[in-house]
Amino acid sequence: MKAIDIRNKYLKFFEGKGHKVIPSAPLIPENDPSVLFTTAGMQPLVPYLLGQKHPEGTRLTDYQKCLRTNDIDEVGDNRHLTYFEMLGNWSLGDYFKEESIQMSFDFLTKELQIPVEKLSVTVFAGDKDCPRDEKAAECWKKAGILDGHIYYYGKDDNWWIAGEEGPCGPDTEMFYDTGKPACSPDCQPSCDCGKYVEIWNNVFMEYFKDKDGKYTKLSQQNVDTGLGLERMAMLLQGVDTPFDTELFKPVMEKLEQLQKVDIIESRRIVAEHLRSSIMIISDGGKPSNVDRGYVLRRLIRRMVRHMNKLQIDLVEISTLIEIYIQNLKEMYPELEKNKEIIINTIVEEKDKFVKTLVHGEKEFIKAMNNSKSEGKAKIDGNVVFKLYDTYGFPPEVTKELAEENNMEVDMKEFNELFKAHQEKSRQGSTQKFKGGLAGNSEIETKYHTATHLLNAALKLVVGPDTHQRGSNITTERMRFDFNCDHKLTDEEKQKVEEIVNQWIKEDLAVTVKEMTKEEALKSGAECMFIEKYPDIVTVYSIGDISKELCGGPHVKHTAEIGTFKIKKEEASSAGIRRIKAVII
Ligand code: ALA
Repeated sequence: MKAIDIRNKYLKFFEGKGHKVIPSAPLIPENDPSVLFTTAGMQPLVPYLLGQKHPEGTRLTDYQKCLRTNDIDEVGDNRHLTYFEMLGNWSLGDYFKEESIQMSFDFLTKELQIPVEKLSVTVFAGDKDCPRDEKAAECWKKAGILDGHIYYYGKDDNWWIAGEEGPCGPDTEMFYDTGKPACSPDCQPSCDCGKYVEIWNNVFMEYFKDKDGKYTKLSQQNVDTGLGLERMAMLLQGVDTPFDTELFKPVMEKLEQLQKVDIIESRRIVAEHLRSSIMIISDGGKPSNVDRGYVLRRLIRRMVRHMNKLQIDLVEISTLIEIYIQNLKEMYPELEKNKEIIINTIVEEKDKFVKTLVHGEKEFIKAMNNSKSEGKAKIDGNVVFKLYDTYGFPPEVTKELAEENNMEVDMKEFNELFKAHQEKSRQGSTQKFKGGLAGNSEIETKYHTATHLLNAALKLVVGPDTHQRGSNITTERMRFDFNCDHKLTDEEKQKVEEIVNQWIKEDLAVTVKEMTKEEALKSGAECMFIEKYPDIVTVYSIGDISKELCGGPHVKHTAEIGTFKIKKEEASSAGIRRIKAVII
């Protein structure tokens, strides 16, 4: 059965059971900056799960576009996906366990005609927060699940919540037995050897977990369910991976035709990341250096690298996008409408990355020739690190290039340097709240306040998503790193300088307040590494133009600073620019 037929059957089945079909919310949540992407069908429904009346009633069903990025590095194996479609049905204080379980059983065994022997279910084993779910087990038995096919597990397996706080509850999960031999006599649905595949999850959402970890009962008993479409299509089609279903097949086949090197993982990564990128852009996503935009950027860059591995000409990206749109437009009609922007965005981002790669490659060749002329057969780890740190050149690409040139690379040294670098930034940030970036000399204190002014001015000139990424102060100068996807124009630099000097001239008062980390964030204070700060923090405000978590020290009034002058603006690493400035 094709994915679209599964989707249609699902919606029709639940419509027949009194559910209203509602449209998929966009992949990029509306009015919810707390999450990057929609990760489950319930997410857009949270207010209604908490008790608000839904205009369509108490029984709803839909297909929801979802993206989960926690397993992004696992993509390439035979099962992980970032984008997927979730089919769901909801009871908003309407039916509960019995009806929900009966409907799931009927849909699986009657509509999809899955033999009952292939089904196993798991239910919540109970703990101090919530009793053992004997009711769910009883409902499954009554519906027809076979003896010995019901398993009890704890919160790790049979409790569902989106993130840390919110509506939640015990769940019951349905598993499909692929018929593969058991990996051991103890093999059960919770085992991930591949014999059992989870296909559907019904959450009995009647609790609310607050930020302190306390559970309270919701005003109504809800049911929230999620069925993974790609997985179901794979199982019903009797294939081993989602990449073998009609959803990916045309692109996988095209990649096979185009490739000069045969690497199955790379083909999957290209196909998967391209599909996710298409879906994100179609719903309004744009590549950038922060948050959502950065996820998209990473997906596109990883795809480009793997196309290079397969030795496929990058101009083929447009062909692959066309194939996808053709293939998926029946499921997602918006793709065709957004075709131009999808192609342009991906191609433009590809071009940017190619430049990074080309620039880095030149530096690599220089470094390699240096090593050769010194009679070395190995490229030092610090060279790999510099290429990575300064040019954003991925270490695995350095390694590949070196191998093509019969050289080795000292990845061990690179890894050590990388770790040390991470440790240094960690300490740097710890240092920041202990004693400030600077020492305590008068001039360093002035520079320190100037970094806050610069941070605020960059937000006005470059954009509100511009944030500090690092800083360093000596008695001679200040250095300030920030995320930005372009070289600042002369005009932008001049504007930033003017704004900072204007604020200095206005002699704004610098004030400091102690508060909890939470209050600080609520008040909109800017912060580089929130998790590194203690519970009580100091927040420095400059007039009403800047507010930052910071350990100080700072001047009392901005006029003490003097005149601020930008000396240089340059790349620091990929997507990060660096300003060097002085006070005169
Ligand atoms: N919200 C539940 C899940 O994502 C159904 O598994």
